[in-house]
Amino acid sequence: MTRNNQSDWSINSWRERPALHQPEYPDKEALREAATELAAFPPLVTSWEVERLKSRLGEAAEGKRFLLQGGDCAEQFQGCDSEVITAKLKILLQMSLVLVQGTRLPVIRVGRLGGQYAKPRSSATETRDGVELPSYFGDIVNRPAFDEASRHPDPWRLLRGYERSALTMNFLRALVSGGFADLHHPEYWDLAWVEHSPRAAEYQEMVMQLSDAVQFMETLTGISVGDLSRVDFFTSHEGLLLEYESALTRSVPRRDGWYNLSTHFPWIGMRTAAPDGAHIEFFSGIRNPIGVKIGPSLEPHEIRSFIEPLIDRLHPDNEPGRLTLIHRYGAAKVADHLPALIEAVRATGRQVLFVCDPMHGNTRTTDAGIKTRRFDDILLELEQSIEIHRNSDSHLGGVHFELTGENVTECTGGARGLTDDDLGQGYRSLVDPRLNYEQALEMALLIAKRIGNHA
Ligand code: PEP
Ligand code: CO
Repeated sequence: MTRNNQSDWSINSWRERPALHQPEYPDKEALREAATELAAFPPLVTSWEVERLKSRLGEAAEGKRFLLQGGDCAEQFQGCDSEVITAKLKILLQMSLVLVQGTRLPVIRVGRLGGQYAKPRSSATETRDGVELPSYFGDIVNRPAFDEASRHPDPWRLLRGYERSALTMNFLRALVSGGFADLHHPEYWDLAWVEHSPRAAEYQEMVMQLSDAVQFMETLTGISVGDLSRVDFFTSHEGLLLEYESALTRSVPRRDGWYNLSTHFPWIGMRTAAPDGAHIEFFSGIRNPIGVKIGPSLEPHEIRSFIEPLIDRLHPDNEPGRLTLIHRYGAAKVADHLPALIEAVRATGRQVLFVCDPMHGNTRTTDAGIKTRRFDDILLELEQSIEIHRNSDSHLGGVHFELTGENVTECTGGARGLTDDDLGQGYRSLVDPRLNYEQALEMALLIAKRIGNHA
């Protein structure tokens, strides 16, 4: 039984709709076996965690909380490593504290991690020197090396992806439930980069205020800030591979409906969000909060006829926290597109949480052919989004970043002024470029007050 209005929804009803960006597995029998095995494994998250997140997202939609979502474009199996995971949790916790201070709102922290292993690709195949092979679709599908064996979509990797997700979440749960409290104390942060910025004095002042606030609160309550917020960390990934998502979707005792228990908060990518497609069909029947990416491929005058059926399918009951729209228009287009999106949603009479992903509309390729993004474009899209929402009697309720806690060089700009020529020093992403530790922290410092002014 589902709470969804459609009586014909089932865990397999998506199979009757066009499913875009699914790998073509040559061995169908192995796929069936892998999916059957997956369906028997324990879930990675619980329905009560999912419900708790949904109710917090509902409060964010009302302007009472703020969402920080971030992590890799695509996690790699080899990144399932204590340092990589710790660094990512650390930057997200630190950014969240900066945002709490600036916005004066509780911040919901959601990692793009513990399952962000599948990628939609613009082309199903890649050709090099006359050799055509399947594209790399993320580690849960195939391997990046350009040879026949590596690019072969292997259904058993679905199980390897589930296992990596479980290992990651197990470690995260241990970290957030104790021993990580120090990260809330700005005196332990890596702030060497600050002095490279013309805004150094301003940043130092903000960090000092933060430090004082943390100490004040701990003195007042006798509880460490780390302990106060210890359970508030959730996971998300793009709900792309429907074989995987449906195998981990379960009905649970004493609750109505179906929960996708591979993650707390799946989102539907821009390329798979057609209202009559398989992805919307599948996610219309599950109880999790759902994100949908909205990009500039539709013109402003077309957005209404897209949004109406989308919201009817995914958000028929106007349940608080159910639907998040993650707009990713790019700094150059957001002013043209966002007002129309806000109006189109308003016309449906439903409430959604609006989040800005300032990464995916700002991708560019350098002269040397490297995919990158400018720090200032990312900031500009965020600033414009905050302003446009405010002017439209709406509000930006969260931010969605591609970032890492490591010292990579994938995006240009920031306090150290990374240039296109610096990108070769530490470019590790196999897909989209991420903000590094310093750039991510600086971004949080820059946007916190602007969001706060509005709140
Ligand atoms: C992503 O989030 O990595 C992604 C592919 O985004 P979008 O669907 O918005 O292009
Ligand atoms: Co990406």
